[in-house]
Amino acid sequence: MSVVILGSGQLAKMLAEAGNEIGISSTFVVQHGVSADPVAGLGKVRRHDSDDEARECMASLPDVAAVTVETENTASSLLSLLSESYPVRPNTACVVACQNREHERQLLDHLDIPTAPHTVAREFNELSSAVEKIGFPLVLKTLSEGYDGKGQWVVDSAEEWESFDQSTLTLPLLVEKKIDFIREISLIGVRTPAGEIRFYPPAENIHIGGILIASFAPAANFSDKILQQAEANLTKLMEHLDYQGVMAMECFQTADGLLVNELAPRVHNSGHWTMDSDVTSQFENHMRAITGQELGPTQTQKHTLMLNILGEIPATLTAAPEPFSLYDYRKSARPGRKVGHLNLQYSDSKSLLSALQSLAKVWPNELVETLITQIKD
Ligand SMILES: Nc1ncnc2c1ncn2[C@@H]1O[C@H](COP(=O)(O)OP(=O)(O)O)[C@@H](O)[C@H]1O
Ligand SMILES: [Mg+2]
Repeated sequence: MSVVILGSGQLAKMLAEAGNEIGISSTFVVQHGVSADPVAGLGKVRRHDSDDEARECMASLPDVAAVTVETENTASSLLSLLSESYPVRPNTACVVACQNREHERQLLDHLDIPTAPHTVAREFNELSSAVEKIGFPLVLKTLSEGYDGKGQWVVDSAEEWESFDQSTLTLPLLVEKKIDFIREISLIGVRTPAGEIRFYPPAENIHIGGILIASFAPAANFSDKILQQAEANLTKLMEHLDYQGVMAMECFQTADGLLVNELAPRVHNSGHWTMDSDVTSQFENHMRAITGQELGPTQTQKHTLMLNILGEIPATLTAAPEPFSLYDYRKSARPGRKVGHLNLQYSDSKSLLSALQSLAKVWPNELVETLITQIKD
């Protein structure tokens, strides 16, 4: 059985590796000029310059069970075209809904799923009234293409707004209340074409400068009431979209419950911990779901920490530092770029602390130090 993955980055890599384990081979269909280093040796790479060329380069592939994406920023025209010949999973509408923050908010509003108060400013002359409507502190976000906190501006006060250089902004913008959250969590679910849904335990996520740095799973002290709220919301979304595969929902936890911040129609960075727990990984379950196979277990009591490695893999980490597992995405170095991650299974805060202290010796950095301080407190 084979699957086509539109993309060749780290998510494509980890999907293909998981597929290989269960007898599903992958072909990567990628635009010319995009690096395929992460997926080297994992399957054929077919290049294209246009939607038609993409379809043509897939014509000779035997027995394609499904076409899937590693990013929401996959052209809807390509997905629609391929849908004529193949099962595209998740379907085009699911991917398109997550491409644009305004559409995403409209979907969430339509399903009565709480989000931060928001409005859209389309023209510069609408910006002041939008800012006034939402009030400070607020966040301005580009509607599309944003990731890892890119395309976002935080404005904390009226004074800051007065001196804000608006020429740095490109409209339209989502103007959104900045939420003073207790913490950030994400919920990852998986749904089969037959409609079976399973959830992983939610992860607690730590972001610095808008970039995910660490995920702890299962999130500690997560009440049943909030878990039910989160699962009910993601169920509503997946059923409404007739979703197939893995979907992630990023949330802010507040004293009044959860606010959904962002949706991802794909496997998600905050689910990388599943590679080192006693569950079927999010990658394998995505491959199983899109090929109509039975899902594997998603629930666990074991604790896992995932730490992102940004910029480049330090030379001191070329081998996995015990007791961590290391995942190298084989990407070229660039400041702030996600190039790999570490997973650690731990039994209690004492063993977590001692593992982080030994990690700090081979990989001294602010994040690890901050986590050590937090755990000691
Ligand atoms: N309204 C908000 N209030 C507080 N923090 C926010 C808000 N929006 C975004 N952030 C912070 O920025 C991070 C990245 O924002 P997000 O909307 O998820 O965009 P992306 O992940 O696409 O860059 C969030 O995980 C959160 O830490
Ligand atoms: Mg996000």
